[in-house]
Amino acid sequence: METIIEVRDLAKIFHSRGRKIVAVEHVSFDVRKGEIFGMIGPNGAGKSTTFSMLTTLIKPTSGSIKVAGFDVNKEDDKIRPIIGIVPQKLSLYSDLTARENLEFMGKLYNVPTNLMDERIDYYLKLVGLENHADRFTGGFSGGMKQRLSVICAVLHEPQIIFWDEPSTGLDPQTRQAIWKLAKKFNGEGKTLIFTTHYMEEADNLCDRVAVMNLGKMVALDTPANLKEISGSSNLEEVFMHLTGEEVRD
Ligand SMILES: Nc1ncnc2c1ncn2[C@@H]1O[C@H](COP(=O)(O)OP(=O)(O)O)[C@@H](O)[C@H]1O
Ligand SMILES: [Mg+2]
Repeated sequence: METIIEVRDLAKIFHSRGRKIVAVEHVSFDVRKGEIFGMIGPNGAGKSTTFSMLTTLIKPTSGSIKVAGFDVNKEDDKIRPIIGIVPQKLSLYSDLTARENLEFMGKLYNVPTNLMDERIDYYLKLVGLENHADRFTGGFSGGMKQRLSVICAVLHEPQIIFWDEPSTGLDPQTRQAIWKLAKKFNGEGKTLIFTTHYMEEADNLCDRVAVMNLGKMVALDTPANLKEISGSSNLEEVFMHLTGEEVRD
């Protein structure tokens, strides 16, 4: 299978109030074109920081990343148009309507003007927001915001979708809808990378799962292999085994 993302010896160190925080270190992995790749790990493991580097939002301290063959340090302008990002902290304009948010994102990502309305209507319907198109998003529920955020991210038909914690804090119905959506996008040939701390989600959705702990990638395999290797019947056990029982705040 073709490689679409190549990460080598990645590190990110933050300096905050005189303290050095090693958020990510010695991380190397490949993502294959067309797969659903999951990153799991406790709070503070470095998942979002890794995402920010892969999506050109922040620069690595060291190491290299190639996305679709483009170097994040030198060719970030070539990467941005082919990826879609749904951040952990959703960034919608609360005093704009759903449609206005979509139009703004569409313009930022150069969606052709003659396709804009049609595409917006298609995606609003896809996530069941067609009757809320002209409401301010400030009044939306968490699930509605999550659904709107993902269609904001795919309006320009990216090859790769980065989705940071798609279903945290959402009800089971919305979670199921999100899984269906992820599978639909993947069925269209898009590569999906998402983070989660729901083992069930990783197990159901992912072709391969990377486990992160304290800034490092401690395992990477199919859910089935991860379970087999550690002799566990479920991914939660594998996860606890790899990341320990200490609670992270
Ligand atoms: N901008 C930042 N400045 C300082 N520390 C940060 C910053 N972003 C993340 N961190 C720290 O890096 C570590 C990894 O965070 P993060 O990548 O958000 O983890 P996760 O997404 O797995 O919960 C944490 O200790 C976090 O506090
Ligand atoms: Mg995070």
